Amino acid sequence: MTLESAGYVTDVTYIPGFYPQLAPTAIRHIAALNRVTPPALDKGFRYVELGCGLGRALTTLAAADPRGSFVGVDINPSHTSQATREAEAGGLSNARFVTADFAHLPDDIRDADFITLHGVWSWVAPEVRADILRIARERLAPGGLLLVSYNAMPGWAHLLPIRGILRQYAALRKGDTAQRAREAVDYLAFQRDQQAKYFLDNPGASKYVDTMRELDPRYLAHEYLNEHWTSFYFTEVAAQFASAGLTFTGSLPVHMNFWDLCVPPSFQELFRTTTDRLVTEAHKDFCANTMFRWDLFAKDPRPLPDAAARIRAADDLHYRVARPGITLPYSANLGIVTSTVTGAPYDTLLEILAGPGLRLSQIVADPRFAQAPPDDIARALDAGVAMRLFDVNAAPLAVAPSAPATHPRMPLAFNRSMLASELFSGRGTPLASTLTGSAITLGDFDAAILSELVSGGRDRLAERIVALMDSRQRVLNHEGKPVTDPAERLRRVEEGCAAFQETIFPALVEQGIVDHGPAAG
Ligand SMILES: C[S@@+](CC[C@H](N)C(=O)[O-])C[C@H]1O[C@@H](n2cnc3c(N)ncnc32)[C@H](O)[C@@H]1O
Repeated sequence: MTLESAGYVTDVTYIPGFYPQLAPTAIRHIAALNRVTPPALDKGFRYVELGCGLGRALTTLAAADPRGSFVGVDINPSHTSQATREAEAGGLSNARFVTADFAHLPDDIRDADFITLHGVWSWVAPEVRADILRIARERLAPGGLLLVSYNAMPGWAHLLPIRGILRQYAALRKGDTAQRAREAVDYLAFQRDQQAKYFLDNPGASKYVDTMRELDPRYLAHEYLNEHWTSFYFTEVAAQFASAGLTFTGSLPVHMNFWDLCVPPSFQELFRTTTDRLVTEAHKDFCANTMFRWDLFAKDPRPLPDAAARIRAADDLHYRVARPGITLPYSANLGIVTSTVTGAPYDTLLEILAGPGLRLSQIVADPRFAQAPPDDIARALDAGVAMRLFDVNAAPLAVAPSAPATHPRMPLAFNRSMLASELFSGRGTPLASTLTGSAITLGDFDAAILSELVSGGRDRLAERIVALMDSRQRVLNHEGKPVTDPAERLRRVEEGCAAFQETIFPALVEQGIVDHGPAAG
């Protein structure tokens, strides 16, 4: 099969991105909370990403967990060669990239503990989806987990005509796919501004045009101009993976596993009486008008009947309070419904998880939970993670010293290389953490501050950043307008540095991304 016959855009390379949903820690927590044994990591594991694009997620995850062996597969050689360069520059010996069509995966890619595919399933031809299902059936180890993301119905229903007209208009234009995508979005905006009736009848679609205008044309090209773009109902995807012998196990983000956090109170009685998870999921998508899903499937899932079994299978996961200053009652709105927790066991959980983090076995062993069934504690903990009250990490985090650092260091070569290559790229810069098993993504300005801190310490930090911005011809904007007055610019950069030191820097130290270095004297 040639690149062209796959019906997938190949003349424009994609954009790099890190997606925390792909991290083994996040995936394993979803399995564990849904009472399925996740693959163990301690003796090493195999992770395969299908359609890895520029490989940014894979390289970052490989840096975050040296125990794993990571393979990225993509049909586009310019994607895999760029990803390979990134892995080499970051000194990664546990990540490799293979240029291959899913129809012809090399034999040595097998017995995977994790297979992930993000931004692939909805965008490829039916025969390519059949190849993916074959890979899922044949290359996932028993007990292995597969994470697939896709554009979902019914959330996409009112936007389908946009994609149709976009493709038809783009086909009439000249230039590469990104250029044609940009012109097609301008045409959509023209239709909208001239009050085409479709837009008058679909105000959500009308608003969406503005979102599209903000997007990178390379993203637009890959998102909308592939021949076989399709959005799926959950039941269709679950049935397809069932045909490959995989069982639906749960979804990301975490709150999607709690229907009471996703559907308004008026529906709750209906859901309470439904015991079939597949039915619940389908109806939940209507209540929430879901337009994107991240679904987890397991091959030969091994059930975890209770908290004791979960502790035996996944006690390397560490839980901690998500950020300082959280008090009870605590409310979270996860898009559709506002939920509130207060009292026991959250009061005790907030207290004991305020430190670097604890395992489930340590949490249930707290004497204050002596009378509480461990299953109830585990459930409360998971609901707390869903509501962003608690985080799940691969290890206890480091304790940040109170004095500011004079000259911090970054222990991972990958992070040093990422910071240097992504400086002012206009994209986020992911920095891998072996403690979270994931990464923090810094914006351009914060990445520049960190880069200067690491290379030259705190001395005259703001002045050096201004000089760096000048050398890269970067403009500082405030409230959407460029700051031209030099004194004001320096003052705003100083403010940015202070905010960085106060909020972002401690998080980087806690996650082990930065070694604190000698304290300020
Ligand atoms: C939208 S991109 C997503 C890339 C990456 N997962 C991300 O989210 O950044 C889809 C990727 O799938 C790859 N792809 C499409 N069809 C393929 C096939 N038949 N075999 C292998 N890779 C394929 C494309 O080259 C592209 O890099």
